[in-house]
This record gives sequence, C-alpha cells and structure tokens, in this order.
Amino acid sequence: MKRSYLTTPIYYVNAEPHLGHAYTTVVADTVARWKRLQGYEVFFLTGTDEHGDKIVRAAEARGLTPREYVDRIAEKFRQTWPLLHIQYTRFIRTTEPDHKRVVQHVLQLLYEKGDISFGEYEGLYCFGCERFLTRKELRDGLCPDHRTPPTPLRESNYFFDLSRYQNWLIDHLQKHPDFIQPPGYREEVLGLLREGLEPLCISRPKSRLSWGIEFPFDPNYVTYVWFDALLNYLSGIGYPDDPSWEKWWQVAEHIIAKDILKPHAIYWPIMLRALGLPVYRRLHVHGYWNLNQAKMSKSLGNVVRPGDLVSRYGADRVRYFLLREMAFGQDAEFSEEALVLRTNAELANDFGNLVFRTLSMVGKYCQGRVPVPGEETPEDRTLKERLLSAVENFAREMDHFRFHLGLSLLNEAVREANRYVDHQAPWELNKKGKQDRLGRVLYTLLEALRVLAVVLWPIIPRSSELLLGNLGLSPAEELSLERALTWGRLKPGQEVQRGKALFPRLERPSFEVPDREKDSAEEKVEEKTYPLEEFKKWDLRVAEIVAAERVPGTDRLLRLTVRCPEERTVVAGIAEHYRPEELVGKQVVLVANLKPARIRGVLSQGMILAARDEKGLKLLVPEETVTPGAEVG
Ligand code: MSP
Repeated sequence: MKRSYLTTPIYYVNAEPHLGHAYTTVVADTVARWKRLQGYEVFFLTGTDEHGDKIVRAAEARGLTPREYVDRIAEKFRQTWPLLHIQYTRFIRTTEPDHKRVVQHVLQLLYEKGDISFGEYEGLYCFGCERFLTRKELRDGLCPDHRTPPTPLRESNYFFDLSRYQNWLIDHLQKHPDFIQPPGYREEVLGLLREGLEPLCISRPKSRLSWGIEFPFDPNYVTYVWFDALLNYLSGIGYPDDPSWEKWWQVAEHIIAKDILKPHAIYWPIMLRALGLPVYRRLHVHGYWNLNQAKMSKSLGNVVRPGDLVSRYGADRVRYFLLREMAFGQDAEFSEEALVLRTNAELANDFGNLVFRTLSMVGKYCQGRVPVPGEETPEDRTLKERLLSAVENFAREMDHFRFHLGLSLLNEAVREANRYVDHQAPWELNKKGKQDRLGRVLYTLLEALRVLAVVLWPIIPRSSELLLGNLGLSPAEELSLERALTWGRLKPGQEVQRGKALFPRLERPSFEVPDREKDSAEEKVEEKTYPLEEFKKWDLRVAEIVAAERVPGTDRLLRLTVRCPEERTVVAGIAEHYRPEELVGKQVVLVANLKPARIRGVLSQGMILAARDEKGLKLLVPEETVTPGAEVG
C-alpha cells in the first residue's frame, strides 16, 4: 500500500485563524486528496500549539484562564477547516495528555543520553519569539521579527546541544538535495548551519512561566514551546506506543511557511537524530500572503478571515484562487478583486461555461442521456489527446507542489475544449440531423468533463462531486486518477443532469455568493411549486429601450433607459452579447417591482429578462410591437 503522511504547522491559539493559516491547510488538504486519487492511504495531521508565554498573555488580555482560552480558540480552528472542505485525519492539541507524555518521554531519553545539560545563561530574550536571540540575529539592536528591544536575562536552564549534530545535518542536506523544497530554502538553511549552531535553551523556569509541559526530571521547569510543539508530528501518529506510528513516520512530509523554517529545518531533524529516529522525508516551504505589500499577520492586524471569504465566494472558489494565485515558495498579494477576476475568468467563463454548454446540449439534443458516439475523427482524437497530456503534465506539477502551473495547464485544456465546441457547432449538427456526429462530439465533451471533474477534485472538491453526480457517476467510484485516464467510462444511455451553473459569474467583490455553493445539501431540495398568487406578485411589463450605453470600467454592464410607460434606468449584464446601438428601439420584458439597487454607482430600477443557452444569451421580446408598459402574464 502506498502511504503518505502530511502535516501542517500546529497553529498558535493566540489569535483566530486567518487566511495565512488557511492557505497551508488548504495546500495540505489538496495534496492529501491528490494522493488519495493516486491510491495512497493518507494521514493528514493538523492542530493547535497551546503552550507558552504568548498564550498566557492572550488569555490574560481577555480575562480568561489559559485553559478556558485555549479551549475556545482551538475550537475556532477546528470549526474553520470544514468550511473550506478540509478533511484532516487528526486534529492534535498540545495540551492533550498523550502529547504531554510524549514530550516528557523524549526529554527523559535525551537527558539520559547526555544531549541535555543544565547551566546558567545570560542573554537577550525576546518575549515575542519566546527565546534568547543571538547578537548576530539582532537588527539595529532589535528583534528582527518583532522590532522590539530584547530583554537582558540571566537564568539557569536546560540546554540541548545542537552543535554536535551540525555536520551530520549539513551532510544530510547535501546527500538529499530535495529534502527542503523549493531549493532556495535549502540554501538558506545551509547558510545558517555554516554559521554554527549555539545550544538551544529548551526550558523555562516555572517562576516565570507555568503554562507548559513540566520537565520529567525537574519540576521547577516547563518545556520551551518549540521543543514541545515539534513533537506533535510524532505524538499525532501515536508515537511511541501505537506501533502504526512507524509506517507513517517513514513517509512524513511537513508543510510550513518560511517564518518557521529554522525550527523545522534545524532543530527538528537534530531532535530526531538525537532520538535515533529517521528524519522526515521532506519539508515544503511556502511564502507569505501579503495584504497591501505587508505580511498578513495577527500582530499587524491586517488579516482576512477565511470564514468571511467562504460565505462571500464559496469554499471552492477560495481554494482555487489560493492555489492558482500563489507560486508555492514565493510571496503573493491577496485581494478580493483578484479573487473575483481570477475565478470569473477561469472557473465561470472557461470551466463553468464548458460544463454548462455541454450538459445543456446533452439535455436538449440527446434527451438528457449520454449519446451513442459515432465514429471518432481526428479532431475528436486531438482534443482527447491534448486533454490527457494536459492531465499528465498537471500531475507532474501537482507532485511538485507547483499548483499554479498545474492549474494553468489544465485551464489551457479547458479553453481548447471550448474552442472544440465552437468549431464542431453541435447545434448545427443537430439542425442538419447528423446524429452520429453529434453523438460523438457530445460524448467526447462529456468524457472531457468526467476527466476534469476527477482531477480537479483535490482543488474544488464540492464542485467536482456535484459535476460527477450530474454526469450520473458516483464520486466514490470515480475518484481515482487511473480511472479518470481510462477514456470511455461513460455508458451511452446513462442519464445526465443539467444541474445548475457550477460557478455563476460574480459581479464584483462585495457580491454575495449564490447560496447553492455554500451548501450542496440544497441541491437535494425538491423542485418547489407555488400558487398562482405568488406569481401575480411580480409586475412584469413590456418596456422599450430608448437609450443604451456601456457602464464605464466594466465589460458586462450596459445602462439602459427604458419606457414602460414611464422612463426608468436599468443596468443589465448583457454587454458581452449586445452592442448598445443594436438595442435602441427593441422591446423587452421588464421586472418592474424589484427593489432598486445601486450597481457601479448607477441606480437600477428593474431587471430585464433573457434566456441563456450554449450559444449565448438572448433577450425575451414580444412577437410583435406592443404598447410600452403592457402587462406580461
Ligand atoms: N505554533 C507555531 C508552529 C509550530 S509547528 C510545530 C506557529 N504558529 S503560527 O500560528 O504562527 O502559524 C505559522 C504558520 O501559519 C506559517 O508557517 C504558515 O503555515 C501560516 N501562516 C501564517 N501567516 C501566513 C501568511 N501571511 N502567509 C502564508 N502563511 C502564513 O508558528
């Protein structure tokens, strides 16, 4: 059995989850799902880091005991992840008794081995970092991360001698060039190692800090929070009592951001080596999400809350954006504008459109069933081959955490499929009665959707499952990369649902996400019926367009002046389908009693009706001219 063990950092509970935490956790979830698609058994660990000074101070600031406080915030983290469709195997908290036992067990072992010594130390302590800083680390006399002057402290403490293992670690990094990814971070670590390692202070006197794990051999001390936290990666899989920990440990990969490179790339491998355990397999390091060029962080207060984004845009759009926008390893700038633009372009216009066109044509021309395909032509073969080779390339990029490149390749294939629809023009084939050819074209497109739904599952799981369902397939059976690449799984005659648009276009950042995307349970709600009185509430009238112009700064919006019979202004999202000049004089159907809404600064007093199909959008017009304002119904 192929196995994979993936971890996120365990997050400090001194603040609520923000988009930076969400990114790492989405990456881990995506990789976990990607591995599952490839047949791996996966253990995905995340959790919270709950000891230390920071936490005590955060609790005090809220008038709570540390225990009450950590319970509260850990719960917030736990509740946030399902909103983003994150499915972890275990959520670990460092205040759990089994984790504490592991930390004490390790301290005892290393103490007995002689790796831990006791001594007096005088140094410069940064309370933000919760550690002593070396003079070399200071910038202008200040802590480089917190920009505060460190406090001189003289204390007796326990130290872990890192320098003993320094050469071994340099050698390990040289022998395993892909131990730290991307390679730039490996160079950084080698640089730090060559400067030499000082002993790591791994205790805190209880007189100064009591919120921590007590030393097993000295009750006057608690464990330094990093020494405690790193061990979660072992306690989380049951080390040392549950024998299954070993099978997971052999395949461990950690995912972090560059802020915590040093503890993960230096302290942790050395701790493992000292314990006589193999080091983890790989460390994946990403950059920062910035907001207006500054790192998004709780200390700067410039955070975006994942829950807010999900309620506005839906989890799949957020996941897609995070993975598509950031080149793993480098920093990226976050903005809602960019999220809307990116997902409108690639999820709504390209992928969503392909899904919508294909499923509605199958509904219309094939009675909603997978058609019997006629003979395959070179065009069909080309589309199939390009798609399958795009998936192969996508797979390679996914394996290397280059999600943004993978998605860009896949999107290229989606655009190719949309061009295929335009060239093959199934509506013409239908008109001319070329059933065999029509069957082949639509079959090819349905297969393309099946393949795309499976390979996109790690990124947009909910939409992918909805699409598979609409194709009449069961996600449990189809979610395998090998099966995805077996062309021709769809059986002619099988029923296909048109479903609702997967990714309706969003107008601008503040627009609400369609409710459907928030909760797929709604998909299952039966079609509702209403008494006629309900319908009569709507004031539908014929309106005549007397003027039309583009709304500046948008590509979709037209500002229309209509007579119905009074004059009104209506903003309509039809600029991609109609030029302003061809609208003047047309009669349309207006919903006249909608609450006026301001759209891009223009007050819109109604909505005009249109129908949409795979060829585009068409306004509803009366068969013959009627008096403006005539009632519709
Ligand atoms: N508790 C330690 C980790 C211990 S792991 C054994 C910690 N916690 S933290 O809450 O500060 O989380 C840091 C991690 O959160 C980063 O490594 C990264 O995964 C994520 N991010 C926090 N802010 C981020 C950005 N602005 N951008 C990207 N990721 C960020 O350090």
